[in-house]
Amino acid sequence: MSRPTPRHTLAHLSDLHLTGDGSGVGGVVEPRERLEAALAVLTSWRLPVDAWVFSGDLSDDGSPASYAWLHDRVADAAAQVGAAVVWGNGNHDEVGAFRAGLGLRGWAAVNTETFVRGLRILTVDSNLAGVPEGLVTVQTLAWLDGRLDAAAPAGTVLVVHHAPVPQPQDAAHLWPLLNADALAEVVRGRDVRVILSGHFHQTGFGTLAGVPVAMATSLAYTQDVGVSPDLRGQAAHTGFNLVELYDSSVVVTAVPLDPGVGVHEVLTSEDVRGRLAFDD
Ligand SMILES: [Fe+2]
Ligand SMILES: [Fe+2]
Repeated sequence: MSRPTPRHTLAHLSDLHLTGDGSGVGGVVEPRERLEAALAVLTSWRLPVDAWVFSGDLSDDGSPASYAWLHDRVADAAAQVGAAVVWGNGNHDEVGAFRAGLGLRGWAAVNTETFVRGLRILTVDSNLAGVPEGLVTVQTLAWLDGRLDAAAPAGTVLVVHHAPVPQPQDAAHLWPLLNADALAEVVRGRDVRVILSGHFHQTGFGTLAGVPVAMATSLAYTQDVGVSPDLRGQAAHTGFNLVELYDSSVVVTAVPLDPGVGVHEVLTSEDVRGRLAFDD
């Protein structure tokens, strides 16, 4: 007996907040180092991952140099492990530089469709130029509605930067998704298995129209939820989410990038196989 094998596995990374010149965010965070830490895990894992899904705020300053550096680092690393890459944008991203630097065609909203072995990954653009609040435009909602008309063989994962659910801090409601209800009406009853979001820089889970919503924390800096309802950004506990899709369930596991002191001996896959063989 062994653990069940997910039909698809995704790594969900968000809110990298890279700078064009490699300078720190808020004077304390080195965003390039944080992405490198994530890539070190993703390229050494023995968990096979189908796709690396990015849910926006990839750049902090929207500069072409930030996207060039990101594309260079991620393209090589993803190719090394055979993972597809899906790019979603956030309110800090400058859409022209984002598209040019990451090799995406088009000129307007970043609405994309990617298939990975029958699993459909849709990104929808929730960004309004120049402001942190989010809105999925009527045009983008219509595009999404059209895509969802036909079910995908293994269902759909929807990526939207602004998490479409409330947060525990008062300040988070200064920059919410303004029309989450409209998005809910489009996804209700369709084949969306999970919605992946970021923007609020904290790991969280919710539902929208009965569809699970999984929020990845930021790779740059995170929120100190222990002071809620106040909002305090901190240079700690960055990470990403592991998303495992089984036939009848979706499992999301937070992957912090600051491992601590070990508490017990490492139990390897080989150890487990040995124990199971002994039990037999
Ligand atoms: Fe962000
Ligand atoms: Fe954001």
